[in-house]
Amino acid sequence: MRRTIVTGGAGFIGSHTCVELLAAGIEPVIVDDLRNSEERVLEGLEKITGRKPVIHRIDCTDAQALNKVFAAERPDSVIHFAADKAVGESVRDPLKYYHNNIGSLATLLRTMAKHGIKDIVFSSSCTVYGEGDKLPVTEDSRTGAAASPYGYTKVVCEQMLRDASAADADLCVVMLRYFNPIGAHPSAHIGELPIGVPNNLVPFITQAAAGLRDKLTVFGNDYPTRDGSCIRDYIHVVDLAKAHVLALQWIAKQNAPLCEVFNLGTGQGNTVLEAVHTFEEVNGVKVPFVIGPRRPGDVVAMYADTAKSLKVLGWRTERTLADSMRDAWRWQQALGK
Ligand code: UFG
Repeated sequence: MRRTIVTGGAGFIGSHTCVELLAAGIEPVIVDDLRNSEERVLEGLEKITGRKPVIHRIDCTDAQALNKVFAAERPDSVIHFAADKAVGESVRDPLKYYHNNIGSLATLLRTMAKHGIKDIVFSSSCTVYGEGDKLPVTEDSRTGAAASPYGYTKVVCEQMLRDASAADADLCVVMLRYFNPIGAHPSAHIGELPIGVPNNLVPFITQAAAGLRDKLTVFGNDYPTRDGSCIRDYIHVVDLAKAHVLALQWIAKQNAPLCEVFNLGTGQGNTVLEAVHTFEEVNGVKVPFVIGPRRPGDVVAMYADTAKSLKVLGWRTERTLADSMRDAWRWQQALGK
């Protein structure tokens, strides 16, 4: 069986990707120190796949520890999810973000080189487009003007991969720019585990609906959009996970060095209020909310042109916003907290 190192494999997108890798006959080897996850994700993975996940609990900036993992596991490829991702925290503590997110990728690339591993799939974000020079954004849209230190770490990591690729004639790099990943595995055994008060919309919606939060604040209804709230491209995490498998399989088929970037979104933009109402309709549950001021740093609208992902990877989303909201609510109920 082919083996891939999955850094951050106990995280939200990483754990769903482990499920899809196994389903495709690729063995995931998780590298995750669980700083932003919990044991229950590993238990959930076992319930879904029937296999105990292989995990090495190390920090990806620890070169010695990473070297030992590569020596012991002899992977064929790497999918690199591990990163800090809280936009607000990155503004307060930027050095943590530059150190961890950029340091872990540099360490990983050096370790890969040492062990002759050439294939890497990297978690990037639509944050690299900033405001977006046109909508929907294509992979060729201008990048580089991110709105936060977190966003800049993704910009720098993408550049690091391009430079590493230019310097190494054998490297195969796929960078995946995620739009807004939401939802959970339909089994409700794995999903998102926000720490403290959620920053992101959907975990806040599910917690407000469950009575764990007083009410959701919709950040602004005076934007130039159809109902005044911001537009995002919300993508089901299982659809997103499947794209990673296709990316690895595509790299293997090329048999040539490459450095490519793909948008992973649905291609559909939905407003915050549409997201809230879809949740209410599909689950038959009310979401208490108020309209508040705009959140600094939010872009008005962002959604993906997905033509390249479809044409090259053969990837398209199969799940709707309603599916995502149903699965997010099932997961919230399973969490019971
Ligand atoms: N929102 C609310 N209330 C909330 C939370 C969010 O109204 O309590 C709104 C936001 O203003 C935004 C939308 O819901 O309009 C989505 O917000 P999220 O925080 O869920 O997602 P973002 O689009 O801000 O963030 C996402 C990723 C980040 C990435 C960023 C780049 O989660 O990792 O896109 O744009 F950096």
